[in-house]
Amino acid sequence: MFDIKNIREDFPALFELKDGRPIIYCDSACMSLKPKPVIQALTDYYTKFTACAGRSPHMFSRETTKRYEAAREKTAKFINAKNSSEVVWTKNTTEALNLGSMILKLDGTETIIATSESHNSNIVKWMFLENAGKIKLKVLDAGETGICSLDTFSAAIDECQPGKFLVSLAQVSNVTAGMIDVPAIAKIIHEKEGIFQLDAAQSFPHLSVDVQKLDVDLMAVSMHKACGPSGIGFLWGKYHILERLHPMILGGETVSDVKIPNTIKMLPPPAKFEAGLQNYGGVIAAGAAIDYLDSIGMDNVHQHEVRLSKVMLEGLEEFGDKISYLGPTRAEDRAALAAIDLKGINPHEVAILLDDMYNIFLRSGYHCTHAFHHSLDLDQGTLRPSWYLYNTEEEVKVFIEALGEIIDTLS
Ligand SMILES: Cc1ncc(COP(=O)(O)O)c(C=O)c1O
Repeated sequence: MFDIKNIREDFPALFELKDGRPIIYCDSACMSLKPKPVIQALTDYYTKFTACAGRSPHMFSRETTKRYEAAREKTAKFINAKNSSEVVWTKNTTEALNLGSMILKLDGTETIIATSESHNSNIVKWMFLENAGKIKLKVLDAGETGICSLDTFSAAIDECQPGKFLVSLAQVSNVTAGMIDVPAIAKIIHEKEGIFQLDAAQSFPHLSVDVQKLDVDLMAVSMHKACGPSGIGFLWGKYHILERLHPMILGGETVSDVKIPNTIKMLPPPAKFEAGLQNYGGVIAAGAAIDYLDSIGMDNVHQHEVRLSKVMLEGLEEFGDKISYLGPTRAEDRAALAAIDLKGINPHEVAILLDDMYNIFLRSGYHCTHAFHHSLDLDQGTLRPSWYLYNTEEEVKVFIEALGEIIDTLS
């Protein structure tokens, strides 16, 4: 049973007042608020057993190790991974995508396929590698919907050499809110022995994500968008791919032995990727976030967000041609966010007024999709409300009303 009142009570930040009045938080595509069990897990780590995992024999260290690995187990189970060794902790999706790219030989013969609506964390590195002559890059035009057809993927993949390409796509776009058909694309990629890396930054927090059903090879997630603490994410990968993946950072805890002259024995995944002391508190609290989402049920989260989307889209339709938003028009086909083009009104100015006058917190700008905004001539950027499990239909209506008042004043 999805009880929004109870859920809201789990998130203390929702009850912060600004100038003595309540706030509306709709910037969850950037950073989600944190429920009490996650805050408690962090506090427990820092007050009761602060230590490093896997190294020292004392009680604090044993407790840290136990909870650190338990978080990995929970995460693996949550995404239906075959084994917890397939989960590698990173600091965010960006780091996970960069780590995933270490599968490449970088000898100039391989192709990376991405799409034009990609987040900078899933395009800048590829542009950088192309400029250095290390890969060939194909950026497919996702158009205004942000979704390429299966024929477009097939045609692009047909031009790649078998086994010499990596396709790196977002399951859900952070600007168009559109969702791609991951298993259908995976089939096309695997028929030609390519590697499919999924950017799940905007899907994992909102949908049930099952890596077996999706049939991808690598998947990147930010836990801070999914009720987890800031600065923690993970890369999931099929184990045989993680075995072939080169570590990005080397150091303590990645090796079982080192001798001079130059002899290194690397540890197997995931240890070979987790060099140096880790964000133990963050990982343990990420485990609490997984427990929290699991207790609510991802299908319930998704259904609630579809309801919020419906209210938002109906409200936005009322503006007629004063505004437009990117992506699909059916709430069922999109995530609960919208990048809104204010047709000449500066979105930053509107975001500041929403904060100043209405206590509504959201984001304006390019949302780290500069290339996509430029491709659509949206050079001023867009205004982006993004809703999550703790938002109410009433809050969405208040946002729509406030936006209407500001547009009337500024136009
Ligand atoms: C679709 C998408 N991919 C990647 C990222 C990068 O996430 P992070 O900044 O947590 O690494 C984001 C963040 O907004 C995103 O929305």
